[in-house]
Amino acid sequence: SYEKIWLMAALLLIVGFISTVTYGATAVGIDMVSDEGGTVNASALDEDPRFSEPRVEQVGDNEYEAYVIAQQFIFRPDPITVPANSTVTFFVTSPDVIHGFEIVGTNANVMVVPGQVTELTVDFNEPGEYGLLCHEYCGAGHHTMEGSVVVQ
Ligand code: CUA
Repeated sequence: SYEKIWLMAALLLIVGFISTVTYGATAVGIDMVSDEGGTVNASALDEDPRFSEPRVEQVGDNEYEAYVIAQQFIFRPDPITVPANSTVTFFVTSPDVIHGFEIVGTNANVMVVPGQVTELTVDFNEPGEYGLLCHEYCGAGHHTMEGSVVVQ
């Protein structure tokens, strides 16, 4: 609908302003893409190849890095699987709008901003499954945006 187009245009403007503030005039981080999703390619996605295939990587004995994309209206990868007794640093970005990243049952609760990478480190001890929720309104499917972190 036209309403959606104007909403997207407004979001693009906002994203553009944020990007200008963050990266300065030299980095044009926003690339409008006319694909069916009407999504915005944020600079973090374009410039950091680790997000091209969202995943968990082992970087030390008990240390892991998780590259996560939060987008309307899913988290990738899903589930995010890590071993018990590990320390996981999450790098989370968004290709479209602002999302939330909350791991239920932990104090991990951050905002994910298009074009920026949010970093947080979480220790996982007990095996189990944690819910992953988006807690920032991000569109019509916001209430369905959930994933999970599986500690095994
Ligand atoms: Cu993503 Cu709400």
